[in-house]
Amino acid sequence: MNNLEEYRKEIEAFASDKLEEIELFRAKFLGKKGSLVSLFNEIKNIPAAERKDFGQGINILKQKVLEKYAELKEKYEQAQQKERVPADLTRPADRITLGARHPISIVTKQLCDVFKKIGYTIAEGPDIEDDWHNFGALNFTPEHPARDMQDTFFVEPGILLRTHTSPVQSRVMENHQPPIRVVCPGRVFRNEAITARAHCIFHQVEILCVDEHISFADLKQTLDFFVKEMFGKERKIRLRPSYFPFTEPSAEMDISCDICKGKGCNICKGSGWVEILGCGMVDPNVLSLNGIDPEKYSGFAIGIGVERTTQQLYKTKDIRLFFENDLRFLSQFESL
Ligand code: DAH
Repeated sequence: MNNLEEYRKEIEAFASDKLEEIELFRAKFLGKKGSLVSLFNEIKNIPAAERKDFGQGINILKQKVLEKYAELKEKYEQAQQKERVPADLTRPADRITLGARHPISIVTKQLCDVFKKIGYTIAEGPDIEDDWHNFGALNFTPEHPARDMQDTFFVEPGILLRTHTSPVQSRVMENHQPPIRVVCPGRVFRNEAITARAHCIFHQVEILCVDEHISFADLKQTLDFFVKEMFGKERKIRLRPSYFPFTEPSAEMDISCDICKGKGCNICKGSGWVEILGCGMVDPNVLSLNGIDPEKYSGFAIGIGVERTTQQLYKTKDIRLFFENDLRFLSQFESL
């Protein structure tokens, strides 16, 4: 018991502001060969009547050591903090590098803004679609080649990654009666080999306008306005007759290639023209499939390829650059 009293005095008296001494103090009492451990080993030699008090005594000492240690360590650390003054307060701060918007995001927004100016609102649909919205509601017959496993990534039978943004047309029409004017940006997926001109993931912006008395002239005017806003007054366009199951008549629109100024390059396959969108008058069958009266209403739809548009605006030769996240490429768009 005398020993305990000695130790108590020693613990209470101890003080130091040096880390080494503080650690030594702790080890001296609580280390594997520390004083308290030897005291614990003594318990068996103590007369039974005193054993309990002795044991409690050691525990109190142990508590005191821990408290002292924590207190000194805390003081030491606070002192360290105070000493840590920056060497040169006039030094310029580290540069915080500003992130850049992705070119695809920049152009998607520009495309949406053009249509917002003339009264369109944004509508979105899911990346994972069902067969009905991606195909059935858009007048694709059950045997249509676009349903082929070659093109479509299926998640499970009847559920797939949408192959175009056109299903958003159907999602809007099933929930709204005309007048409808929507612009639908989104990511689409196709099981295609990745090359400089094609990728298995890409982006589209879909336009749908349904109202009374909508004609092909409205579609052409809208396309004309869109190209002038997006590419400037000088850019030439041409419409080619085409086929899509959900539009009749259908067309594809090319713009003159700005990368080679019409001379022919690998982006325009040497023709001087690049296809950037498909369009047409909404097939009356699609209107009725989606709950809209084709006797009363008509409409047009447009599907714009965002990568192609971006390539033309920024003269990007290889579509793969959009997906590789190479900072040397992306940082060029920092100020946009
Ligand atoms: N969905 C078509 C595709 O991805 C593109 C398209 C063509 C959309 C004509 C349209 C349209 O809205 O009218 O190939």
